[in-house]
Amino acid sequence: MGKVIAIANQKGGVGKTTTAINLAASLAAIEHPTLLIDIDPQANCSSGVGINPRTVQKSTYEVLIGDISLEEAIQPTELPFLEVVPSHINLVGAEIEMIDVMERERILANALRRARRKYDFIIIDCPPSLGLLTLNALTAANSVLIPVQAEYFALEGLGQLLNTIKIVRQHLNPELEIEGVLLTMFDTRLRLSNQVAEEVRRYFGDRVFRTIVQRNVRLSEAPSFGRPVLLYDITSIGARNYMALAREIIQNNQRFLLPEPTTEAASTNGLSIPASGRSPSASSDATSLRQHPGRDA
Ligand SMILES: Nc1ncnc2c1ncn2[C@@H]1O[C@H](COP(=O)(O)OP(=O)(O)OP(=O)(O)O)[C@@H](O)[C@H]1O
Ligand SMILES: [Mg+2]
Repeated sequence: MGKVIAIANQKGGVGKTTTAINLAASLAAIEHPTLLIDIDPQANCSSGVGINPRTVQKSTYEVLIGDISLEEAIQPTELPFLEVVPSHINLVGAEIEMIDVMERERILANALRRARRKYDFIIIDCPPSLGLLTLNALTAANSVLIPVQAEYFALEGLGQLLNTIKIVRQHLNPELEIEGVLLTMFDTRLRLSNQVAEEVRRYFGDRVFRTIVQRNVRLSEAPSFGRPVLLYDITSIGARNYMALAREIIQNNQRFLLPEPTTEAASTNGLSIPASGRSPSASSDATSLRQHPGRDA
């Protein structure tokens, strides 16, 4: 089963979308089949991977109001291992349209049930609010990644987010974990950035990622070309930072990535032998990665 990570912080402009796009692209570049889901009506994530949200016919909006399945909305991107479910401005209305639906917080979780077998990672870009769209993401997710901008008032509002996570755990998704807190837009020249980093580490301890995303103009330019930064300037510091983040997340999630043992393998000395080996040579074959028989159990 793939790992579903929601990128959330109700504060605007902290780097959620930049992180969703570039983390997903980096995981895909390491040949992990990855799905990027845009549930923000601003649709910046969709345009950031080259999709024109104005012409999108099948988006998260149609999925959430129950018109189509999630599979029907999946589109390819320039990266072979990365697919996307784009958003549309209509999604603004979805929160209202969903109000009368039974189990309205679980719509995305239910829609994702089949798709999560096909991917190693599913990354959800949330809007800057703690409304029904973000609640759907937190209910569908295994974990939440919280980007925090290395700026004044970095921790402001995080109490509210942590409280929402607690409520989601109590009522909707007991398994929800914190994947980590990510420092973004870090300026190595500023003492302020270091002070914020210290404060965030004091508050969140080892839940802060080792990787820090620095302020890098390439990261802000890439979306206007509809490309993740690694396809825009692979040598940039932004590309390197997000690749490091992807590696850190892969490292932390080995248990999600190892295929479940087959019955035969499980009976061999009780050792868990991967059902369809993930050697570098095997992983160069997209088809073999997409069909982990052991993981569909
Ligand atoms: N590390 C970075 N270096 C330079 N610019 C960045 C970096 N991260 C994000 N930005 C820029 O900062 C702005 C806000 O980033 P982004 O859109 O990712 O935030 P967001 O949290 O998704 O915003 P919103 O809350 O509106 O959805 C964008 O213009 C983006 O290009
Ligand atoms: Mg955004």
